[in-house]
Amino acid sequence: MAKKPEKRSWAEPFKIKVVEPIKMLTVKEREKAAKEAGYNTFLLRSEDVYIDLLTDSGTNAMSDNQWAGMMLGDEAYAGSKNFYHLESNIQKYYGMPYFVPTHQGRAAEHMISKILIKPGDYIPGNMYFTTTRLHQELAGGTFVDVIIDEAHIPEAEHPFKGNIDLKKLEKLVKQVGADKIPYISMAGPVNMAGGQPFSMKNLQKVYEFAKKHKIRLWMDATRAVENAYFIKMRERGYKSKTIAEILLEMMSYFEGIWVSAKKDLMVNIGGFLATKDKKVFEEARNMVVVYEGLHTYGGLAGRDMEAMARGIEEMVQFDMIRTRVGQVEYLGNKLLSYGIPIVRPIGGHAVFLDAKKFLSHLPQDEFPAQTLAAEIYIDSGVRSMERGIVSAGRDPKTGKHRYPKLELVRLTLPRRVYTQAHLDVTAESIAAVYERRKSVKGLKMVYEPKYLRFFQGRFKRLK
Ligand code: F0G
Repeated sequence: MAKKPEKRSWAEPFKIKVVEPIKMLTVKEREKAAKEAGYNTFLLRSEDVYIDLLTDSGTNAMSDNQWAGMMLGDEAYAGSKNFYHLESNIQKYYGMPYFVPTHQGRAAEHMISKILIKPGDYIPGNMYFTTTRLHQELAGGTFVDVIIDEAHIPEAEHPFKGNIDLKKLEKLVKQVGADKIPYISMAGPVNMAGGQPFSMKNLQKVYEFAKKHKIRLWMDATRAVENAYFIKMRERGYKSKTIAEILLEMMSYFEGIWVSAKKDLMVNIGGFLATKDKKVFEEARNMVVVYEGLHTYGGLAGRDMEAMARGIEEMVQFDMIRTRVGQVEYLGNKLLSYGIPIVRPIGGHAVFLDAKKFLSHLPQDEFPAQTLAAEIYIDSGVRSMERGIVSAGRDPKTGKHRYPKLELVRLTLPRRVYTQAHLDVTAESIAAVYERRKSVKGLKMVYEPKYLRFFQGRFKRLK
């Protein structure tokens, strides 16, 4: 008898118009490539990668409408019409009146850190992000993690693991005084926690707290649309609201945001700082000409700003964000069905393997996540990223390794790039490595750069 479908599926709200061939090396060739790259997936040549899940940053497929916009780039040095299109969309969708374009997110992080932080200040945030914390430290500040405890526990099922723990915030204010806290640095979904969102309710509480203590509230809004999607799906009272409405409500609580446009906006390059505070804006506008370029292009071509402006219109479409997060969920569920330890709940931009559990025989000093990322590449040519002790770096005061509780490998999905079959290949490869996990040897670090060591550090296999 014919079998009836168990459910009605939904599919991507787009079809493929242009393809880019990829090739698969042999295991032997990949062994060699991994060794030459010092067992660091950042140092592999992209040509040697089969399925690239290193990052969702700048790796997105643009739509035909965005590509068409590229041809309408107004490459004037000053006052490009694409700047004004982008400005009006930032005002409309993020609700921020003032904005400064930058070539990517970290340039905006650099500016906001220098503008707001004085040496000796403390910056509380819901878990660190690598470049964000580094810029805060380079400006003389100390980052303080005030995320809820559950965020540090991979298997803790909590719908909003990105929430700020108000008691931790209160404690910091008591310890150092509100005048030593230039701003609260809130991100969502929290990248290093596994792509975990905060709830609107939590944000409202943080907003009230900040107002009471006269502390500014800023957001890393790089993946704010994913956070808005989780609020719609998980939080009471938001089901019938549109993504655009939720994003605007979220933005209403912040004084300003910095954004890497290489994520939500589905472009290959770009970033910006946007704010409601005219004074901060004026300082940023002064700074941008020193580090990036004139304030109406900030290190970008006119065509890049046009692609961003159009990307904003696409990112808030429900079908688009559902597909994006849905793909991540598909991969995560497949891995769970193979019994592979991952961070729960499944996040917004990536599935995070729990390398501590996966390679439980390796101590953290032997870099389990770094090792696992290299092993997965060797198995199938799938490229992932370490998010553990290497990414955490050294404490600037003591010079010692920071030992994060989370030792993870991130499988990050570029937007609109891979098919379900690519995800099946990925999951099966990880299952194969899981089968032979006990035979995997750890690594030792043989080259360590001073800043953001995960990008360029090199490793050797332990015997
Ligand atoms: N903030 C967050 C939350 C990020 O994920 C990133 C980049 C940045 C800021 C910096 O932006 O790269 O445009 O300078 N994340 C990338 C990643 C690199 O792979 O997660 P950028």
